[in-house]
Order: sequence, then structure tokens, then C-alpha cells
Amino acid sequence: MNLTLKVWRQKNTNDKGGFITYNVKDISSDMSFLEMFDVLNEELINKGEEPIAFDHDCREGICGMCSMYINGRPHGPLKGTTTCQLHMRAFKDGDTIVVEPWRANAFPVIKDLVVDREAFDRIIRAGGYISVNTGNAVDANSILVDKDKADTAFAAAACIGCGACVAACKNSSALLFLSAKVSHLALLPQGGPERKTRVIDMIAQMDKEGFGSCTATGACEAVCPKEISITNIARLNAEYARAGATMDK
Ligand code: SF4
Ligand code: FES
Repeated sequence: MNLTLKVWRQKNTNDKGGFITYNVKDISSDMSFLEMFDVLNEELINKGEEPIAFDHDCREGICGMCSMYINGRPHGPLKGTTTCQLHMRAFKDGDTIVVEPWRANAFPVIKDLVVDREAFDRIIRAGGYISVNTGNAVDANSILVDKDKADTAFAAAACIGCGACVAACKNSSALLFLSAKVSHLALLPQGGPERKTRVIDMIAQMDKEGFGSCTATGACEAVCPKEISITNIARLNAEYARAGATMDK
């Protein structure tokens, strides 16, 4: 298929940036969206031009790096799908595809489609961990966990920290991400020791990073490639109240 791409190019954080149009030819419908970019970048390099900078790592939907807006939707048109798992068969020959970086103050553009998501790392460092004694792993059955809780914790732990929820939110809220991280630890006995301080410290860090308030529109859940449920935000609110703090987000 032959396609027209309008790609956001920006030299650095301070550059104004803008869209550049590229025509790509003979793209296989079996290629992933990132492979299509690889083809374009090879062409640009061969012509002596600067390739398009974009983030990627695992290319199998688990690292959360391949974050970009495709035709106005984080990770593109398919529900529950990361950009690296989006295939060109989702588009038609002759299509024009608009590609942009995440737009959020807390995620400044570093270059082209690459944004700085260290704000998420700092939120995790504020409390998204458990205290463990080093040594041999304990037997799997020595700490019993209800099946329902284990399943719900597992579903929340599927968050890959991609930031699509922030990008889709009118207020650039990070609550879906944060609620997934708090939920999976709050539901398990291993998360017990830091349960109160975790939620308070992570929310304080989120506020410090400049993420906005929840809009309660569910835009985050709709675009999440891991289909993290918005019910985690209700659990986050409950955890915050349980910790004796007042939620203003
Ligand atoms: S909640 Fe979903 S959209 Fe948000 S960071 Fe996690 S995986 Fe990405
Ligand atoms: S490159 Fe890892 S999730 Fe897409």
C-alpha cells in the first residue's frame, strides 16, 4: 500500500516543531506500524536526512515505550492494542495518517515523537514498591491469596506505563496509571506494610509532577492498550480515604 504520513518533527524540547509530510510506498499490510516507520527511516537515512525519532523496545506490547498519537488517538485505531502491535492492515491504501507525540505538560517532547516520561518513574519511586527480605523465594502457596483478589491485582498489574491515559485526558490526569499501580499492591498481602504511605506519597508526587485532575469522562480507560479498568480509580480513592487523607484530585 502507498500512504501519506504527516509526522510531527521537533528538534528538541524548546523547538516549536511542526508536521512534515512523507509519502511511503509498497508498505506490506503485514508490517507493524513501527516497521513501517523503520522503512521510512531507512529511506531518510539513505537520502542523508535525519530519521524520525520514536520510542520502542520490546515490540510485543509489554514495555510501554511505543507511545504516539495516530490519527488523533493514542496508539492508533484498534482497541486494546499498542502501537507496536498495530499492523498496517488496519489502514487502507491511499490513507493519510497523522502521527504526533503525547501532548501533556508532564511529558515534555525530547525529540520528534519521543517524550520524557520520567514523571511516571518518579511516581513509582515515591511508593510503587514493596519491602522484601532478600533470600530465597518463599513457596508459592505459603501466602494464600483469594482467587478474585489475585485476578483483580493481576489485571491492574498489566499496566505498562505507556502514558496513553494521560495523553487522552483533557486534564492530562495520571489517575488511571496511578490507580493501577496502587491497586495491584493494595490487593495483595505483600503490599500491606507500605499500604498507607504508598498511596499518600504517590499522590503527592503525582501532584508535584503537574498532572491534572480526573475528568471522570473515562477517556483514559477507552484508550488504554491494556484495558485497565476505571474501577481502579474508585479503589485508589478508597485507599486514600483509608490512609486518612483527603482526595482533591
Ligand atoms: S493505565 Fe493503561 S494507558 Fe495508562 S499507563 Fe497504564 S497501560 Fe498505559
Ligand atoms: S515497543 Fe514495547 S509495548 Fe510497544
